[in-house]
Amino acid sequence: MSLHPWQKRKIAIVGAGSVGATFAFALAQKGDFEEIVIVDNNQTLSEAQVLDLAQGFCFMPTTKMRAGSIEDYADADIIVITAGAKQKPNESRLNLLKRNQRIMYNISSDIKKQNPKGIILVVSNPVDILTKIVLEQTGLPANRVLGSGTVLDSARLRYYLADRMNVDIHNVHAYILGEHGDSEFTAWSIASIGCIDIDQYNLSEKLTELEKAQITKKVQRSAYTIIEAKGSTYFAIAMALVNIVGAIIKDKKSLLTVSRLITGEHGLDNVCLSLPCVVSKNGAQLMPNIHLSELETQQLAKSAKVLKQQYEQLNES
Ligand SMILES: NC(=O)c1ccc[n+]([C@@H]2O[C@H](COP(=O)([O-])OP(=O)(O)OC[C@H]3O[C@@H](n4cnc5c(N)ncnc54)[C@H](O)[C@@H]3O)[C@@H](O)[C@H]2O)c1
Repeated sequence: MSLHPWQKRKIAIVGAGSVGATFAFALAQKGDFEEIVIVDNNQTLSEAQVLDLAQGFCFMPTTKMRAGSIEDYADADIIVITAGAKQKPNESRLNLLKRNQRIMYNISSDIKKQNPKGIILVVSNPVDILTKIVLEQTGLPANRVLGSGTVLDSARLRYYLADRMNVDIHNVHAYILGEHGDSEFTAWSIASIGCIDIDQYNLSEKLTELEKAQITKKVQRSAYTIIEAKGSTYFAIAMALVNIVGAIIKDKKSLLTVSRLITGEHGLDNVCLSLPCVVSKNGAQLMPNIHLSELETQQLAKSAKVLKQQYEQLNES
C-alpha cells in the first residue's frame, strides 16, 4: 500500500453490527481516515448506524462516513471484516462455523472481484480459521490478510497485570499467543515491566505460578463472562482495531499479536495464528528471533493442532 500525501485515506468496514458500529465510532474520533464506509447486507441497518454516528460529526475530527457497497472495496486502503452470523439456540459450534465460512466465501468473492489494493483485517470469529479462509479465497499475499488474533487478549492480559503489579498499563509488555480462543497461552518468558523481566520486577511482590495461571484463565474467560452478562463484546475490540488499522495506515511498525499465515516458523506450517508481528503499511510481517520457552513452544504447537483440526473438520463434513 503506497499512499500519496494528497490521497484520501479510506477504510471499508464490513458488518454494521455491535463490533462494526462501535469500531466506526471509535475510529471516527481518532481522525485517521478521511472516509469511513460501512457495508452490510442489511442496508437499512448500515444506513441507520451511519446516520446515528454522523449526527455527532460536529464533535469529531472531520470525517466522511456513508453506508457503502462492495464496489467500495476496490480503493479502500483497509477492509475490516466484522460480518458474522450469531449462534442460534441449540446450534452446534461446527454449524455456526459453517455459516460463517459461507459468509467469508461471499465476502472474499466480492473483494476479489474488486481487485483490492488494500489490506484485509478479519475480526469475525473464529478469527484464525476465517483469516485462513479469506486468505485462500482472495488469493492475496499472506502479509496483506491478517486477523485481529490475540491483540484483544493481550490487551486484557495487560489490564490484569497492570492491576496486579500496580504499575502503568503502558509499561506492561506481555503477549497472549496462539489461537484466539481456548488454547491461547501467555508467553511469560517474554513478559516485562518496562525493561525488567516480569519475574524480576518488585521481587517482594513477585507473581506466583498460581497467579500466572489464574491471570491467563481470566483472559481466556473474558469473552464468556462479558457475553453471558451483555450478549456481546465490542468496546475493547473496537479500540484494538483502531490500534491495528492506525499501525497500518500510519506505517507505524507496531509490534502486535495479529493472526497471520505461518510458514515454517517455530516448526509450524500452513496455519493462521498469533505470534508477535510488525504491523505497517505492508501489513503483518512475523517478528524474527522470538525465542519461546520449551513449554510455550509446546503450547503453540497445541494451539496450531487445535486450529488445524477445526479447519479440517470444517472442510470434511
Ligand atoms: N476477534 C475478536 O477479538 C472479536 C471480538 C468480538 C467479536 N468478534 C466477532 O465479530 C463478529 C461480529 O460481532 P457483532 O457482535 O458485531 O455481531 P452482530 O450480529 O451484531 O453483527 C454482524 C453483522 O454482520 C452482518 N452480515 C452478515 N453477513 C453479512 C455479509 N455477507 N455481508 C455483510 N454483512 C453481513 C449482519 O447483518 C450484522 O449486522 C462475530 O463473529 C464476533 O464473534 C470478534
